[in-house]
Amino acid sequence: MMKLHQILLAGGIGPLLATANNLNFDFPYNSSSPVPFTISVDEAFIEETQSKVKLYRLSPDLKDDSNYQWNEGPPQKDMAWLKDEWTNNFDWTEVQEEINSNFSHYAITLQGPSDFNHPVPLHFVHEHSTNPEAVPLLLLHGWPSTHLEWYKIIEPLLSGSGAPDNISFHLVIPDLPGYGFSPAPEYSGLGPAQMGFVFDALMKTLGYEKYGLVSTDLGWVVASWMANIVPDNIIAHFSDFFLMSPNSTDLERFSKNETTQEESDYIQAIGVWSTTRFSYSTVHQQAPLAIGQAMADSPVGFAGWVWHLKYAVSDGYDYTAKDLIRDTMMLWIQGPWGGLRSYKEFFKPSAFNFPMSQVPTGVSQWAANNIDGLHSVNFAPRDWMARLVNLVKVFQHEAGGHFPAINAPDLWVQDVRQFFNGIITGAL
Ligand SMILES: *[C@@H]1O[C@H](CO)[C@@H](O)[C@H](O)[C@H]1NC(C)=O
Ligand SMILES: *[C@@H]1O[C@H](CO)[C@@H](O)[C@H](O)[C@H]1NC(C)=O
Ligand SMILES: *[C@@H]1O[C@H](CO)[C@@H](O)[C@H](O)[C@H]1NC(C)=O
Ligand SMILES: *[C@@H]1O[C@H](CO)[C@@H](O)[C@H](O)[C@H]1NC(C)=O
Ligand SMILES: *[C@@H]1O[C@H](CO)[C@@H](O)[C@H](O)[C@H]1NC(C)=O
Repeated sequence: MMKLHQILLAGGIGPLLATANNLNFDFPYNSSSPVPFTISVDEAFIEETQSKVKLYRLSPDLKDDSNYQWNEGPPQKDMAWLKDEWTNNFDWTEVQEEINSNFSHYAITLQGPSDFNHPVPLHFVHEHSTNPEAVPLLLLHGWPSTHLEWYKIIEPLLSGSGAPDNISFHLVIPDLPGYGFSPAPEYSGLGPAQMGFVFDALMKTLGYEKYGLVSTDLGWVVASWMANIVPDNIIAHFSDFFLMSPNSTDLERFSKNETTQEESDYIQAIGVWSTTRFSYSTVHQQAPLAIGQAMADSPVGFAGWVWHLKYAVSDGYDYTAKDLIRDTMMLWIQGPWGGLRSYKEFFKPSAFNFPMSQVPTGVSQWAANNIDGLHSVNFAPRDWMARLVNLVKVFQHEAGGHFPAINAPDLWVQDVRQFFNGIITGAL
């Protein structure tokens, strides 16, 4: 017997088009306690996606090399390669099975705080270390990632021996709302502080009264709010990201050549970043619906949008076609809009100005070497970070870029262990 989607296919592509608000995967709404979750994407939707991939129209490209370092976007030849790989060699079913079998997935719906009085459905991965003394950690990703930003470091963090310097962790790894398999909010107002409230409720529901935070990118903003909203529940906060703007005194010193080398390098790098590489964020903040509508109609075009940013920040990491397509699919399945729109909430001035917290904070900084002028973009000066947080440890690496948990997982795990070990033994 033909499956329903085959019948629809036989009748042309029209009836297959996913309707608005259709997630394209099963989500067990309305469960206030965690229920096991299996990623199961609608097969008809996957076929529809493959049809769109095949129909992708390559854009013309310059004949000279002024798009050096992908300033303007991914070159045509790279997009042609991606389209070809996606058309001929990508199998979502295989990827789905891999993600389902590698990790323990759950779903839950938690109530938002008083200033976002709506249910917040979440997908998350929960992994227990075999060591009962393990430290619980909440790991928070950013855009264009999902829980898969952590796929290489899950096993290593679980399996520490428990000895000093080799502590192990229990891991709770959500997809932010609007990313991966956490449905996008249906109302405005779910900013980083509100998400922080919900993630703390998640940790309590799982029985973790006190836990460590590990964050990156937009997840760093959520974690920084949590350090304010629920400081007593947070053991410490480790981040491989720290965005810190110079204040007017810093800029005045810079103009008089009175800043330190470290300060000058950082100010110059964030200048390059904000004038040549930050357009995606401005678009997400200001027109998420307009850009989301276009992106929702072209899987390859959306992959190019994601890849353009990845290329700029990942310090030359050699992504396979499977990596790029899988990571794009994770945002494409429910539709790119929700993740894109999170910038609107996260970049409100009120959302970015989290107050000073006493939670002990460790920052791991990774150079980005593959784009001219960006080497020090992740090297916020130590003194400046200490204006915002109780900074107890800074690690610095001459390579690794913006996704060190993907790019340099062994070193990244070493930093996390060293930091939390120092906190727990009182050495930090
Ligand atoms: C969830 O529960 C609410 C309130 O009980 C109900 O209105 C809504 O239809 C439920 N949603 C789903 C998807 O079951
Ligand atoms: C799943 O586990 C296999 C075997 O360890 C590994 O090769 C693969 O990279 C993992 N994939 C993901 C997405 O975690
Ligand atoms: C940490 O413990 C794990 C599990 O016992 C072991 O495989 C690993 O080699 C240890 N690492 C160090 C640095 O001692
Ligand atoms: C900038 O920060 C420095 C160090 O905290 C402080 O001394 C200075 O007053 C700040 N300038 C402004 C304009 O806030
Ligand atoms: C800035 O100061 C450094 C030493 O602190 C000096 O080497 C350099 O020439 C100065 N640059 C300018 C433009 O004055």
